[in-house]
Amino acid sequence: MAALTSALTRADAFIVVTPEYNHSYPASLKAAIDWHFTQWAAKPVAFVSYGGTAGGRHAVLHLENVLTELHAVTIRDGLSFPNYFTACQDGRPLDPQAPVYARTVLDQLAWWAVALRSARDAVPYPG
Ligand SMILES: Cc1cc2nc3c(=O)[nH]c(=O)nc-3n(C[C@H](O)[C@H](O)[C@H](O)COP(=O)(O)O)c2cc1C
Repeated sequence: MAALTSALTRADAFIVVTPEYNHSYPASLKAAIDWHFTQWAAKPVAFVSYGGTAGGRHAVLHLENVLTELHAVTIRDGLSFPNYFTACQDGRPLDPQAPVYARTVLDQLAWWAVALRSARDAVPYPG
């Protein structure tokens, strides 16, 4: 866990990748999130999810609630891969639009990373 703590402390932004199990995300991910507090505060989080027909969207809804409680800023757009086992080939999505969606998410995440880094540098987060 020490290596993860160090990486989260140094990071200005996060992408959380999650599967979906019974309409939520895995307990191992919850443990990794709960082990930390200040590491999330006033930093942006994007989500990439995958699973069966739901594509991990229920898991992401739960994660948005949890990370908001930890003062993270969850960004609106994300990537979702329903039935990823038929939607990918050789580890790549078959949907030709997937790289376009990914670019949108990364652009939003980068914007928030710069904005929130500047804000944290200017004034310590009061949370
Ligand atoms: C017990 C169980 C429950 C699952 N529940 C869901 C679900 O609620 N929604 C969904 O989209 N996929 C569901 N799936 C499909 C998983 O998301 C899929 O198997 C995925 O590969 C799991 O990620 P992993 O292989 O990285 O652990 C479930 C799979 C299992 C075995």
